[in-house]
Amino acid sequence: MTQSTTEPARQDPDPHTPIPFPQDRACPYHPPTAYAPLREAGPLGRVTLYDGREVWVVTGHTLARELLTDPRLSSVREHPGFPSPTERFAKVRTRRVALLGVDDPEHNAQRRMLIPSFSLKRISALRPQIQRTVDGLLDAMERQGPPAELVGTFALPVPSMVICALLGVPYTDHDFFESASRRLLRGPAVADVERARDELEGYLGDLIDRKRHTPGDGLLDELIHREGADGQPLSRDELIAFAVILLVAGHETTANMISLGTFTLLRHPEQLAALRAGDTTTAVAVEELLRFLSIADGLLRVATEDIEVAGQRIRDGEGVVFSTSLVNRDGEAFAAPARLDWDRSARHHLAFGFGIHQCLGQNLARAELEIALSTLFARLPGLRLAAPADEIPFKPGDTIQGMLELPVGW
Ligand code: HEM
Repeated sequence: MTQSTTEPARQDPDPHTPIPFPQDRACPYHPPTAYAPLREAGPLGRVTLYDGREVWVVTGHTLARELLTDPRLSSVREHPGFPSPTERFAKVRTRRVALLGVDDPEHNAQRRMLIPSFSLKRISALRPQIQRTVDGLLDAMERQGPPAELVGTFALPVPSMVICALLGVPYTDHDFFESASRRLLRGPAVADVERARDELEGYLGDLIDRKRHTPGDGLLDELIHREGADGQPLSRDELIAFAVILLVAGHETTANMISLGTFTLLRHPEQLAALRAGDTTTAVAVEELLRFLSIADGLLRVATEDIEVAGQRIRDGEGVVFSTSLVNRDGEAFAAPARLDWDRSARHHLAFGFGIHQCLGQNLARAELEIALSTLFARLPGLRLAAPADEIPFKPGDTIQGMLELPVGW
């Protein structure tokens, strides 16, 4: 494990042999070294998945935007050609997934029901509550004194508490749903994934049933009383599917960005000093960190017609994966892309995806990241890693990227 301020050197010299995807990062904030040949062969290459299947991989920024808005690429996971990056994913592939697992027009109908709750205006109104959550967690950390493990004491509880309040899920159940979400996204064993999904669905189904009798004021309560596109109330299964994706996507991703963002800033003292000195805004820094870290690396689609693109033909039924870590380091879209640079405009990064499935929670994620990172570094000016950087464990390549633990002192 090496961690660096420059991207590690490439290892595989042959740009034409399909390489396995996904692979572990050598440094938690750089794309896997082994992906270098893909970049050279780009913008469209070939990779092999865990089961030996070959699929297309998109690594170029312009092409990614083009294909992520192409209706001939589907997100429906039941399609036999849909790519499974891991055996765990293959096990739960055909389970109902709201939003992320449906195409238009069904997708549009689902998304329209949720958009108002995640609008910039609604999220701006949540900022004081997010600030209180962050302050409360940092008060507790300071009372306890250094050292602290930042994932468990801060990075995970911030988005977890916020999404619980937004959805109307009791935070007192956080140990259960955080562990189930972790097992759903990361195993360790294939059987765990199915069990975790069952447990989450059971828990959220019970919660929805209770809410029908004792209404609260969260988004799940609102959805119970809203009508779907057909004018009918949402079914219990539809409500559960919304609840699962919102709860899981709403805390795991942002938690990883907070932990990995903090680690990355501590490993880039020059950029951290500029941020502290006010030479850039936290909003600009968050955007560049989103690009630089690309924690959701490997968006999945399947072609439902032949597509001629980049001098190649993607055939009907073939799988396509988008490597956001490479797309967001495409030199044609971002100058000196391996550098963490507050002076660039990173807003066109694809860390939140692009097209109809572009992250629904991006306004919320940005607000949480801005408040969490700015308050953390302001309140603890002496924040530092409490273990050698290359001994701190981070997540394997087959899941959302982030730190497994983050021991800090101050
Ligand atoms: C920094 C944190 C986050 C990152 C990096 C992230 C990343 C992404 C990406 C890349 C996609 C598109 C996937 C694809 O096209 O296949 C996505 C979709 C989605 N995200 Fe996020 N996300 C984050 C935070 C959140 C939060 C806080 C929520 C809150 C509920 C959320 C909810 C969703 C939902 C519901 C979708 C599916 C949207 C659709 O299909 O229409 N995400 N996210």
